[in-house]
Amino acid sequence: MIVLANDGIAQSGVTALENAGYKVDLTTVAQDQLIDYINENKVAVLLVRSATTVRKNLIDACPSLKIIGRGGVGMDNIDVEYAREKGLKVINTPAASSHSVAELVFAHLFGMVRFLHDSNRNMPLEGDSKFKDLKKAYAKGVELKGKTLGVLGFGRIGQATAKIALGVGMKVVAFDPFLESADLELDFYDGQSLNFKIDTISKEEVLKQSDFITLHVPAQDEYVISTKEFELMKDKACIVNAARGGVIDEIALVEAIDNGKIAQAALDVFEKEPMPEIQLLMNPNISLTPHIGAATNEAQERIGSELAEQIIAILG
Ligand SMILES: NC(=O)c1ccc[n+]([C@@H]2O[C@H](COP(=O)([O-])OP(=O)(O)OC[C@H]3O[C@@H](n4cnc5c(N)ncnc54)[C@H](O)[C@@H]3O)[C@@H](O)[C@H]2O)c1
Repeated sequence: MIVLANDGIAQSGVTALENAGYKVDLTTVAQDQLIDYINENKVAVLLVRSATTVRKNLIDACPSLKIIGRGGVGMDNIDVEYAREKGLKVINTPAASSHSVAELVFAHLFGMVRFLHDSNRNMPLEGDSKFKDLKKAYAKGVELKGKTLGVLGFGRIGQATAKIALGVGMKVVAFDPFLESADLELDFYDGQSLNFKIDTISKEEVLKQSDFITLHVPAQDEYVISTKEFELMKDKACIVNAARGGVIDEIALVEAIDNGKIAQAALDVFEKEPMPEIQLLMNPNISLTPHIGAATNEAQERIGSELAEQIIAILG
């Protein structure tokens, strides 16, 4: 049986599938040639990430397809309900990248509190001529330990982020309209573990109490954070968005930074991808990454193995 991994798959997935007798095709077929390619090769499983789209016309035109798999979380690029109505299985790997995203949040937080994002911009330019000025500019760092992290959206990634925060010595407060509390188990390298129960509180209280706020909500119709929410926050709070572009109002964010309400922000996702607003890119108080939350070797390996496991469980 042929598995076409059109947007690639980690070696762990290839190995597991080949060991189970599948042929894994790693060709990247152009979107407009995909239907013909699937039919000519009698592809049974189409694996995609975010690049390839799987719409109704493809589902209708490709009778050999049995499974559509998405490496990662969001399935906006697949007509999931339609595929299921037509008897196809649609699978994804929602938990595989949670810890990677959580670590990226902390990379931004640790970086921001010591101005690394800005220092790394200015040291190459002025590190030899204005060393003392830069030293002074970045002298007022703070520690994360002892501060409060507010988590908006307490699902997989929100909880993974909370666990790191607890390990760092932060207090964690969380808001999630669909969750009253969560039991977090912190596992240590030597087999010890610690359990924390976190009861969620109101969004308003999270905004008021937090020194740092991180967003882990799904895509929404409305902004989760806009002017009203920034006003509720502590003065000089910091905010991180590694969830989805469009959950923070970017215009309100730049205003809140410019008027001093918000000290710093970190963005991995943007309202306009792949061309984020220049006002965000040029802002010295914003730590930036180009949507790389899930992009670690470990997450990709887990995605590959989990997809292979699910395919083998369904098709045998
Ligand atoms: N940066 C990246 O590369 C990257 C990678 C993977 C996932 N993500 C994004 O991270 C987000 C979270 O993913 P997850 O796996 O933790 O999802 P999840 O479904 O496990 O958790 C989301 C949580 O948000 C809660 N929620 C929904 N609406 C809310 C609201 N208005 N306010 C507060 N909470 C709300 C839900 O009840 C749920 O518990 C998603 O938007 C996902 O697309 C980003």
